[in-house]
Amino acid sequence: MCGIIGYTGEENVKDVLLDSLDLLEYRGYDSAGIAVEGHEGPHVIKCAGRVSDLRVICESEKFFTEQAEGCGIGHTRWATHGGVSDANAHPHCVGEVTLVHNGIIENFRELAAHYDLGEQLKSETDSEVVAALLNHYYDGNPHDAIKKTVSKLKGTFALVVLFADRPGVIYSTRNVSPVVATVCEEGAMLASDLTALCRFTNRYFVVPEYHILELHRDRVMLFDLEGNEKKPEFLSADWELNSAGKNGYPFYMEKEIMEQPKAIERTIECRVAGGMPDFTREGVPDSLFTDCERVTIVACGTAMHSGLVAQALVKSILHMHIDVEMASEFMYSDPVLDEKTLVIAISQSGETIDTLEAVKYARLRGAKCLSILNVKGSSIARESDYVLFTNAGPEIAVASTKAYTTQLAVLYLIVAKMAHCRDVFTTEETQSFIRELQRTPEAVEKVLAERRDIHLLANNVLDAKDLFMIGRGLDYSILQEGSLKLKEVSYIHSEAYASGELKHGPIALITQNTPVIASVTQEKLMSKEMSNIREVRARGADIVLFIKKSLAGSVNEDYRTFLLPDMQDAFMVMPASAALQLLAYYVSSDKGFDVDKPRNLAKVVTVE
Ligand code: G6P
Repeated sequence: MCGIIGYTGEENVKDVLLDSLDLLEYRGYDSAGIAVEGHEGPHVIKCAGRVSDLRVICESEKFFTEQAEGCGIGHTRWATHGGVSDANAHPHCVGEVTLVHNGIIENFRELAAHYDLGEQLKSETDSEVVAALLNHYYDGNPHDAIKKTVSKLKGTFALVVLFADRPGVIYSTRNVSPVVATVCEEGAMLASDLTALCRFTNRYFVVPEYHILELHRDRVMLFDLEGNEKKPEFLSADWELNSAGKNGYPFYMEKEIMEQPKAIERTIECRVAGGMPDFTREGVPDSLFTDCERVTIVACGTAMHSGLVAQALVKSILHMHIDVEMASEFMYSDPVLDEKTLVIAISQSGETIDTLEAVKYARLRGAKCLSILNVKGSSIARESDYVLFTNAGPEIAVASTKAYTTQLAVLYLIVAKMAHCRDVFTTEETQSFIRELQRTPEAVEKVLAERRDIHLLANNVLDAKDLFMIGRGLDYSILQEGSLKLKEVSYIHSEAYASGELKHGPIALITQNTPVIASVTQEKLMSKEMSNIREVRARGADIVLFIKKSLAGSVNEDYRTFLLPDMQDAFMVMPASAALQLLAYYVSSDKGFDVDKPRNLAKVVTVE
């Protein structure tokens, strides 16, 4: 849940580190720090607060006016062990060792006691214990010290280390927590994820677990723990070099919402051949969809919400047994899993530890796993039987938007493929389904074009403390995500309810002027849904209606309304989701919040 960076090269090292931390800050943002090699060893600056606070301190440091090119490491933290304080910020220095760490060391207390490291520790972190242990083992041989240290660690880690007597070289090793690396004209670099590298190059490799990486300014070297040199397997990202910037938008969230039509189109079009869904390029065989008897989707947060939409579609179109499981609960719920189960894991980052563990667990029990991911080379990608990548490009805002709609796009393709393979759809029906899917970028575009109207509606909920979202069927699935979006970026307590459930409890919470957002996009459920809306209005609720344009004519009452462009009901999810994302965005930005970095959250959740 932290961002780590290492750089050695001819660029201004402080600037490279701080600019990279800016890009990695979505991984954690309660404290930040850098260490840059100087003549008298590494110079460490760290503080509780944002990377911008660290930048201010660095700007006034004389050291950096004298030290430009060189070698350094950096870190942006999401606190796990030890509170948010300057001392607990990384890097940690013990003796010859300066280190940053992402992950959790479960046995740090035992290690500190066993090796009597307590005296050397200035922080409450598990990470500093690793620095002390490395220093304990260090006798001039970095590989030996790393090897001995990692053999004692229990937990997850990505370690990036400077040894005082090895100027110009950065060492790294990892277990579970990700590290990607590259070497290019500007020097050699490693980071927790690609967003920090893609400013320089789109060639990178994933550092394998329990290996040692050495970064020199003109080369990278990779070794296994026995000292055998290994050839890094370079990958090529299709992200554009400047795709991690804000492109003039005030927040990444807005930029990413606006990128959706193109991202959805990219995700769909490369998988349509002759009007049919086609996964041959990715090597996903049709037998994966015909041989299974049930489907289980595992995911967390927004990714899980895209699974809920798929569940509704699979049930209504394929009449198959399908579960959607929160990955964090999955292993502990004795799930039904066997070789007839198709597990679909969904994750933007491909690193969420609960989803990763769920995939490993399911495969051990014989299930086949197909993952829908945004990040190539990610841990879940490596653990899965098959992967379909969303082509969303880097998603930086903590609140997920374009990752969600591109996940939906892949899920619609899978539904079409399954329906065809299992003789539920004829070829013509499949082509017609795909044609409608291909219209979704245009429908989302129409919503984005009307965003000023959504901004006006957002004004009505700015002061709300509690808010409810109600809908039936697919509308309920959409609203679960809409509600999460609003709550995470605006801090308004928001709950989504299936409208029919309201009178079994939640309606007790509706009082005069309670804001209620209703989504009405499913024709067959409309009359019941409108009755539920009237029921809450009769109790004082202040309704905002998101309704499919062609259904709006039959609404007799006067509601504040946003008209959603018409698509077939099964596809209304796409325009409706974009509208709800914009609502959440405007509420948050109008309240003056840091939209991209909601409090307490992190983009990549690598702790259970
Ligand atoms: C975090 C993020 C969410 C995301 C969830 C799952 O909680 O803040 O936006 O939906 O993790 O992340 P994943 O990378 O697995 O999609």
